[in-house]
Amino acid sequence: MDNVRDRPRRSVLAVPGSSAKMIAKAKTLPADAVFLDLEDAVAPLAKEESRQRIVEALNSDGWGGQIKSVRVNDWTTPWTHADVIAVVAGAGARLDAILLPKVTDPVQVQALDLLLTQLEQLHGLERGRIGIEAQIEDARGLLAINAIAAASPRLQTLVFGPADFMASLNMRTLVVGEQPDGYDTGDAYHHVLMSILVAARAHGLQAIDGPYLQIKDLDAFRRSAARTAGLGFDGKWVLHPTQIDAGNEVFSPRLSDYDHAELIVAAYEHHTSAAGGARGAAMLGDEMIDEASNKMARVIAAKGRAAGMARTVEFTPPDSTGAKST
Ligand code: GLV
Ligand code: MG
Repeated sequence: MDNVRDRPRRSVLAVPGSSAKMIAKAKTLPADAVFLDLEDAVAPLAKEESRQRIVEALNSDGWGGQIKSVRVNDWTTPWTHADVIAVVAGAGARLDAILLPKVTDPVQVQALDLLLTQLEQLHGLERGRIGIEAQIEDARGLLAINAIAAASPRLQTLVFGPADFMASLNMRTLVVGEQPDGYDTGDAYHHVLMSILVAARAHGLQAIDGPYLQIKDLDAFRRSAARTAGLGFDGKWVLHPTQIDAGNEVFSPRLSDYDHAELIVAAYEHHTSAAGGARGAAMLGDEMIDEASNKMARVIAAKGRAAGMARTVEFTPPDSTGAKST
């Protein structure tokens, strides 16, 4: 897939821009995407030197096929413009996107878009290629999410920032990704996650879940990831190498679902064709399929193909004696 917006982001590795060691390690890890952080993982006194470290890292060899972003500081700080100028001037051609945190208003995305356009012009970079990822991290951002999702053609993803979000709502918990103490019904994050997902889908963007901070508890990471994967999210942040395989697995379809999806797509194509009888609804084994099931199947098939999965069964058209297809 050529368009970065459509490439898999099942695991998005967070790497502090202040750590040369962690950046060097990140290059070798099988995360689908990596973001080098200039924001909350970097102390104010280390911000400036980290810009240069990130530029050098982006320009160095040894990266795999990871999507590479830089998280700059948010527009309420004194740093955003200089962060963007430094990384685009120094390594714009190597950069897939800028991750903008704490987005509360579409104008912040538009301001970044304008700055990127000017920098691309100045440095002879392909116009519009560098994407924007918008992190939704507080009540204002969530209320403005539809306008934020529509703010720029550069947008690639909407990203949930659970830690800042929980703080913004005064939620009574310190465990990011777990239910707040005393809330013993439903999922306290359902509305937030669904709002992000719906806005992302309405605008053709990917929806990315944020971090799970108890990095030693892999089962809990899997449970947390499975919830958002089940809703339809495309991926989740990972903070430690051990979370990467789990993220890649949870956000890929199961092989049985992928096989089933490919069968539906192939069967539907056959049955709707002239040779297959030009039928809108048809049987696949004991299952009735139609345009709606074909749409659902295409989503799973596309995710499986993007994840490099190989089908283990092939569709066989029913023969002229009327035998059923499987
Ligand atoms: C990430 O930035 C978060 O606030 O959870
Ligand atoms: Mg945050």
